[in-house]
Amino acid sequence: MEKIVILTGAGISAESGLGTFRDEGGLWAQHRIEDVATPDGFARNPAVVQKFYNARRVQAAQAQPNPAHTALTHLQRNWPGEVIIVTQNVDGLHEAAGSENVIHMHGTLAGALCTTCDHRWVAPPEMSVGEPCPACGGPTARPDVVWFGEMPYFMDLIYDHLANAAIFASIGTSGQVYPAAAFVHEATMSGARTVELNLDPSSGASSFDQVILGPASETVPRWVQKLLRES
Ligand code: APR
Repeated sequence: MEKIVILTGAGISAESGLGTFRDEGGLWAQHRIEDVATPDGFARNPAVVQKFYNARRVQAAQAQPNPAHTALTHLQRNWPGEVIIVTQNVDGLHEAAGSENVIHMHGTLAGALCTTCDHRWVAPPEMSVGEPCPACGGPTARPDVVWFGEMPYFMDLIYDHLANAAIFASIGTSGQVYPAAAFVHEATMSGARTVELNLDPSSGASSFDQVILGPASETVPRWVQKLLRES
């Protein structure tokens, strides 16, 4: 049965109260990417970085999934084929909505990573500078989030899914960050039908067969209902 691959971005969590990055007043209007989302920034001033992710971790832990997240879970449970969610988001709202096998290509706020031994563990709500690694004891823990200039996670797996997707949907992403912004081209090359669901047209909107505009909490449930009705 047809496989659906869904890419999500910050826009799907906006109505759950989590700020996006590039919208007006977004995270990158409040913080310099160089300071909080690069390995150099972490080396330069880890306290600033830990503070930034600690605040996001607390906020994400208090946020609730919205009808867009819930609709994707409903699709996963009722579509006769595979439904793969690839998210750029580091919040846990897809899982909180009951979705399974969510691929976090940019990592997760809930994780900690040791830069000495690569050990991963569940991050405490507040990570401190010099947080010790429970495996090697090194004071070299960082948030397990992919920063600019670093390779996203699970890329081989994601390309495998895109190579045999019948439907590719992109929800709540501005299409400005690669490699995610190029997934529509990968999917199109493998013959997939492509649809973008976004508040405003993304930078890559013209590459999609269909563009559905509006708040995700409204457009995604409608899109899912239509897909299931036609399946
Ligand atoms: N419903 C649907 N779309 C929305 C909503 C909403 N309620 N609110 C905002 N959007 C859309 C915006 O129109 C915008 O196109 O979501 C998009 C958010 O774009 P960005 O802030 O650029 O976030 P994203 O695309 O996820 O960023 C990609 O960049 O900063 C890095 O690693 C970070 O994963 C992130 C990556």
